[in-house]
Amino acid sequence: MGMCFPLCLSLFLLKSAIAEASDPMCRHQGKFDLSGVSRKGDVVLTGLFPIHFRTIQPNLSFHEEPSPPVCDGFNSRSFRWMQTMIFALQEINKDPMLLPNITLGYNIYDTCTTPTHSLRAALTLASGPYEDASNYNCEGTSSIPVIVGDSGSTQSLVVARTMMSFNIPMVSYFSSCTCLSNRNEFPAFFRTMPSDAYQAKGVARLVQRFGWTWVGSIVGDDDYSHNAIQAFSDEVRKLGVCIAFTEVIPKVYSRRKILQITENIKASTARVIVMFALEGDAYPLISEVVKQNITGRQWIASEAWVTSALIATKENFLSLSGTIGFAIHRAEIPGLRSFLLQVHPFKTPNNLFVKELWEVIFNCSFGMAVEQKGKPASISSQKKCTGLEELTNTYNIYSDVSELRISYNVYKAVYTIAHSLHNLYSCENGKGPFENQTCANIFDVKPWQLAHYLKEVRYAIKLGEEIYFDENGDIVATYDIVNWQKNEDGSVRFVHVGHFDSATDSGQDLVVNETAIIWAGGKVEAPESLCSKHCLPGTRKAIRNGEQICCFDCLPCADGEISNETDSLNCVPCALEHWSNPQRNECIPKEIEFLSFEEAMGITLTTVSLLGTASTVSVAGVLWYYRKTPIVRANNSELSFLLLLSLMLCFLCSLTFIGQPSVWSCMLRHTLFGVSFVLCISCVLAKTLVVLMAFKATLPNNNMMKWFGTLQQILSVLLCTVVQVVICVVWLLVSSPFPVKQTKYYNQKIIFECDLGSVTAFCCVLGYIGFLSCMSFVLAFLARKLPDNFNEAKFITFSMLIFCAVWLTFIPAYISSPGKYTVAVEIFAILASSFGLLICIFAPKCYIILFKPERNTKKYLMGKTCSKKST
Ligand SMILES: *[C@@H]1O[C@H](CO)[C@@H](O)[C@H](O)[C@H]1NC(C)=O
Ligand SMILES: *[C@@H]1O[C@H](CO)[C@@H](O)[C@H](O)[C@H]1NC(C)=O
Ligand SMILES: *[C@@H]1O[C@H](CO)[C@@H](O)[C@H](O)[C@H]1NC(C)=O
Ligand SMILES: *[C@@H]1O[C@H](CO)[C@@H](O)[C@H](O)[C@H]1NC(C)=O
Repeated sequence: MGMCFPLCLSLFLLKSAIAEASDPMCRHQGKFDLSGVSRKGDVVLTGLFPIHFRTIQPNLSFHEEPSPPVCDGFNSRSFRWMQTMIFALQEINKDPMLLPNITLGYNIYDTCTTPTHSLRAALTLASGPYEDASNYNCEGTSSIPVIVGDSGSTQSLVVARTMMSFNIPMVSYFSSCTCLSNRNEFPAFFRTMPSDAYQAKGVARLVQRFGWTWVGSIVGDDDYSHNAIQAFSDEVRKLGVCIAFTEVIPKVYSRRKILQITENIKASTARVIVMFALEGDAYPLISEVVKQNITGRQWIASEAWVTSALIATKENFLSLSGTIGFAIHRAEIPGLRSFLLQVHPFKTPNNLFVKELWEVIFNCSFGMAVEQKGKPASISSQKKCTGLEELTNTYNIYSDVSELRISYNVYKAVYTIAHSLHNLYSCENGKGPFENQTCANIFDVKPWQLAHYLKEVRYAIKLGEEIYFDENGDIVATYDIVNWQKNEDGSVRFVHVGHFDSATDSGQDLVVNETAIIWAGGKVEAPESLCSKHCLPGTRKAIRNGEQICCFDCLPCADGEISNETDSLNCVPCALEHWSNPQRNECIPKEIEFLSFEEAMGITLTTVSLLGTASTVSVAGVLWYYRKTPIVRANNSELSFLLLLSLMLCFLCSLTFIGQPSVWSCMLRHTLFGVSFVLCISCVLAKTLVVLMAFKATLPNNNMMKWFGTLQQILSVLLCTVVQVVICVVWLLVSSPFPVKQTKYYNQKIIFECDLGSVTAFCCVLGYIGFLSCMSFVLAFLARKLPDNFNEAKFITFSMLIFCAVWLTFIPAYISSPGKYTVAVEIFAILASSFGLLICIFAPKCYIILFKPERNTKKYLMGKTCSKKST
């Protein structure tokens, strides 16, 4: 009751207002001038259709009181919509399953695309079931509180705002404005037209699908366009797409503004332009674009103009070829065409619109009807309609059923209401959805009861689709994606290339058959629309200051970093043992460096080392062959052979430094080196000592030579060597050298080297060699002037000098050049010092043995000694 009182009151007020304004309603020339068609039925639906597309003020004269505006501009397309509603109702009435025993009637009003007309028509419904406002038959029928309509969003908004106070449900077939999904404002608004929100999402998905990140946008100056572009911008921003420009087409034609927009289109680098605009608004801009011959832009059309006959013309195709757009789902309605063709101005006399249809299609006039409507009499000169014209013989928008999109929406709307009524009618008392499980009475349906059933309705329409409304009263949005292609005669053909279904998961909601598309300019490849070219792998995006994220520079990755994907945001450092390739798109394993046997330096060093070994062996051979000769005998030959053996080891030990380091070669390298060198130096030291001893022995009362015989010499050599062996064994046991892949020296290569394990141990080994060689050097230096059979001390001094020099220069070289060159330097030092010893100590002897045998006599040697002594 509490609910009813204000409702009843407003109904009462409205009723009296209408009654005052026009009495009676059903008159041809009432002040309201509502025209329409109706048909009796048990239950009567109200439909609002924009049969005319504008209102005009009839000839004004100062003598008469101004007449109300009249409708003008017959729209045969919306007349087809209206006929589709009648067709659907007829089908339902024939259907024995749907609403059996109940006949549906209709009251259909022409809204003239004008909100005020729509509102008046709607108010006749609100004014109650007792009055009927059709303008030529006043048969009273009981309307149920539901409106099929309105068409445009603006009209629907006006009607819905008013009707909502009565809670009267509306099912619109053409209003797509997202604003109408607002459940708080419009709790009983339903539609079979998809909301623009879905279209915006679909267009965004399309833009994403083809990788366009830089798109221009053009919108009309109305609710539909503004809401759509807003939703579109929000969607694409989420997908990382940037809007290059947004231009608004003024509602009132302004050439200056249109020119400014075309300039912007030409100046922009965006190749893809999305336009959300009503066809009437888009038309002047498109005309200018075509006039200026702006081509090469891929236009993305919204549902409002994609199939517009006004825009899709032969002439416009030059600039608009390949346009892709979202169109309302198209369907075939069986039987509709023959129904549409049945109309005839004489056979359906109570449908005034048929006469107008005739006049528009056949360009003739019935005379009377025109005068009655008070239109300007300018068309009186036209030929008279005979009624013998054949509708089937001419092409016209009315009977063309190839593009049934909105008509199908109307069809769905009527069926949806019928199914809701059917559910309401089938309600069993005691199981009803309302208070106390009551049901509604079909002959006295309350608006809120029908709204309840509309919310709940869910059925499969004959054409296969499942129809229901979501919580906002929106139907599942299915769009066809159409592509403008050229017919042979140059006219535009809308080719179905895919569809968008909002009920499907994102990812599968957009289905496009790319091969079926012909793009702008007749291309078969999708155009590109980017602000900046893609960043190739190997580079990363650097957003330009103050610009959109789609405009960026590509910076190459730094050394050691890569990016392996197009448009990477950053470069990824390579793993430790990897490095970037020169293209910076792949991490490649670093080059592993060590001195190998294969390379030139390795081969050279190996050769030299083997050469050294061979020379040592030959020297040993020569000495052995001439072992009986005085010069060999004079210089304690045992030590000489030991020295040669150790030199051979020294030459050979350099080989352990070449090749890939392994556990064994690392362990062997420094220890073998240390031991052979100590052996070598000890021999030299022993020789020096022998020289010193020999000199002392020539002095009286001295038989030191007895103390330092061959055995003792060998033993002392071995003793010295054992010290080094002990150091090496301790080194190997405590912290032996091991192979390691060293990354710290160079970025781009790994040094495969032997880690010393213990630097102290290495220093001890070197230090011991150094100590022994210094001692040899000092002693040899002291002994260099001593008379001898064959003074070796001079040569030993010299060889030790070379030895020390080599090793002293080795240290800085060793420290400063890591990598295979260190090893090479070390080998070089080993070979150089070994050759130094070999040459300095043995070359003079061999020279005498081989080339000056006359000097190789005891006499000569003695003589030399004597002569030396005497000097
Ligand atoms: C329809 O009317 C017929 C005859 O009056 C009746 O037999 C039938 O039961 C009715 N059907 C329904 C569903 O009410
Ligand atoms: C339009 O421009 C295209 C190339 O941009 C050219 O081939 C064509 O002839 C032009 N048409 C007119 C009418 O100027
Ligand atoms: C896509 O379009 C091409 C060309 O029209 C057609 O041959 C092909 O069958 C279509 N593919 C699908 C999956 O519809
Ligand atoms: C790029 O590199 C990452 C990590 O290295 C890898 O997971 C991914 O598969 C690579 N992508 C391509 C396209 O090579």
